[in-house]
Amino acid sequence: MSTVAKQIEQSWRDDFPVFRESGVAYLDSASSAQKPQAVIDAMAGVMQTHYANIHRGLYDFSQKTTSAFEAARAKAAAFIGAASAEEVVFTRNATEGINLVAQSWGREHLKEGDEIILTGMEHHANIVPWQLLWKQMGVSIRTIPVRDDGTLDLEAFERMLTPRTKMVCAVHVSNALGTINDVKRLTYIAKDFYPDMKVLIDGAQGVVHQAVDVQDIGCDFYVYTGHKLYGPTGIGVLWGRAEVLESMPPYQGGGDMVEKVTFEHTTFKKPPARFEAGTPAIIEAIGLGAAIDYLNTIGIDAIAAHEQALLAYGMERLADIDGLTFYGNAPQKAGIISFTADWGHPSDIGMILDQCGVAVRTGHHCCQPVMERFDIDATVRASLGLYSSAADLDALVAGLRKAKDLLG
Ligand SMILES: Cc1ncc(COP(=O)(O)O)c(C=O)c1O
Repeated sequence: MSTVAKQIEQSWRDDFPVFRESGVAYLDSASSAQKPQAVIDAMAGVMQTHYANIHRGLYDFSQKTTSAFEAARAKAAAFIGAASAEEVVFTRNATEGINLVAQSWGREHLKEGDEIILTGMEHHANIVPWQLLWKQMGVSIRTIPVRDDGTLDLEAFERMLTPRTKMVCAVHVSNALGTINDVKRLTYIAKDFYPDMKVLIDGAQGVVHQAVDVQDIGCDFYVYTGHKLYGPTGIGVLWGRAEVLESMPPYQGGGDMVEKVTFEHTTFKKPPARFEAGTPAIIEAIGLGAAIDYLNTIGIDAIAAHEQALLAYGMERLADIDGLTFYGNAPQKAGIISFTADWGHPSDIGMILDQCGVAVRTGHHCCQPVMERFDIDATVRASLGLYSSAADLDALVAGLRKAKDLLG
């Protein structure tokens, strides 16, 4: 068997109990990934053996759960090459991480007239928090143009920078187009113009498809979300460079983030505790740690090779179907295939595919501005995960043939 054929065949599918129950061709991992047994066991294990609230209890259960929670933080930090676990703030998801930066760093360090640059392919999660700040503070927002092939125009970005630009926010891998952005180059351009410019990378899709090293990228903030990384919902990661987190005021107030409270005055703990008010998602953080252990055992590079082989296979098979237009044809692209058909609307196609046992996403994928850029309102999106197989893509092609017969 050739190496490519082996990469296509390999899918670690048996690690995912859902596929023992269902033969669904699950092609919606960019939206949320299925969970391996290792994650389910780790979460159930805490509840079955030593569950308790963390940080406060002197008794055995609390100490054990605290250790597991903090071990998960260390894993979440090491996974993206962070210098220390203290640079990782646990959030609910990627969205909350970006809102935290906007409301804490943004309100502390920006002023009216300052500029924030976003890319033209951001998820709403990396647009709306900055728009709220625009309404609150009068900062302005500009966007880096997206080329026809779905890549960013970084030359235009260089020309856009002005002394008023204080923050650049970019998606690492576009969930709508699959483009893998050169965030290291983007960060370099920003910092070369003004070393103190802050760069936030939305890694919600970034960490899933390739190895990430935040120190190598050179950014200041990197966010990701547990449920797309084969972990649970309700847990996300905000990584911030230590000195930048240190310069930020609390985002929310409550227990566990304070040193001393009187009715007149409160002093706050250092990061990351300063940003984790109240009881955190303890079981979910431990589940995320288990997901990271699981991925490290396989190796993210092996997963990337599998997805790339499948992506090539899928594109080749889909070329046989007439009337499809693909969005996002960047040379560096993750396992995300977004397309429209001249014979049917994405939502009709999605419903027929569901009847064929194929789960895809249809719609704007929370990226309305990039849909507008390509003059469409929706696409069909098939996205791959480590459990995806050639059979899933064959089922997609067969389902599309049926959809074409019915709608065309
Ligand atoms: C690129 C990107 N950014 C951010 C998000 C938001 O993730 P969450 O809803 O987990 O916060 C998503 C989710 O689809 C995404 O694909």
